[in-house]
Amino acid sequence: MYCVIGNPIAHSRSPWIHQRFAALTGQSLHYSARLAALDGFAASARAFFEEEGGHGCNVTVPFKHEATALADTCSPRVALCGAANTLVRQADGRIHADNTDGLGLVADIEHNAGRRLAGQDILLLGAGGAAAGVLAALLAQRPRSICVSNRTVAKAQHLVDSHSALATECASTLHACALEELTHQAPTPTPTLAFDVLINATASSLQGQALNLPGQLLRPGALAYDMMYGSAAQGFLDWAGQYGAQGRDGLGMLVEQAAAAFALWRGVQPPAAQVLAALRQLLASEAA
Ligand code: ATR
Repeated sequence: MYCVIGNPIAHSRSPWIHQRFAALTGQSLHYSARLAALDGFAASARAFFEEEGGHGCNVTVPFKHEATALADTCSPRVALCGAANTLVRQADGRIHADNTDGLGLVADIEHNAGRRLAGQDILLLGAGGAAAGVLAALLAQRPRSICVSNRTVAKAQHLVDSHSALATECASTLHACALEELTHQAPTPTPTLAFDVLINATASSLQGQALNLPGQLLRPGALAYDMMYGSAAQGFLDWAGQYGAQGRDGLGMLVEQAAAAFALWRGVQPPAAQVLAALRQLLASEAA
């Protein structure tokens, strides 16, 4: 028995993804989507684990911090960012929290898009839960630098401060800057602020607002990655495409974070790339 808990949850593709994983790996499991009231996450998770025999649970917006608080133990990456997307019931009944979002992002960029992050200059846009959840995994790839840029610069600085020891360990330069600094950078032949990989982890597109970034942030051949997919990612991808950058939406991250959770629960690595291709086809046929 597995599930994903969120609010809202009706749009979730997780049941489809995990059922595919199970079929392709010959595992027998049941995975459902559950809506919890905004003040009802802990009750819903406890009922699932303690009364219904749940073995593992994915957690999505807005409960990722509450999931950390509910767990008895957590992985080092959850300790760093405070947010969990995967709960596992251990043999002794205790609940362990992990976060596979960063693993999913890195797997999608490195394996599915075929792009190594080591030695790259990365721009991480946003400093909310989505950005916090992936920063440690990005650093672990030993990029040359990561700039965390946010509208509210204090939040970006907070993320940088909490990850500074890890950045040193990974020989990466980690710094914060205000989003305004990027948008107001004067055009020059060799801009100081230019990146190989740009990752949009802001919620701007959900509010129908463009980030208004200048094209010179994109180095030739840059990858512009939006952690959302579908229409929510389109504005950022259109912006990047205008300047000849490679655009990629977050559908692969969704499938890869699920694959990492599945592997934690079942000890089996599912064929994520195959399921990603099938999900893309499904979404295209639904849109047609
Ligand atoms: P999530 O869990 O999805 O990251 P969040 O924690 O509410 O959600 O964070 C939303 C992020 O998107 C923040 O970095 C936010 O910037 P602020 O910290 O300054 O609020 C960013 N964001 C939201 N709307 C934005 C907009 N219109 N332009 C730029 N950044 C925006």
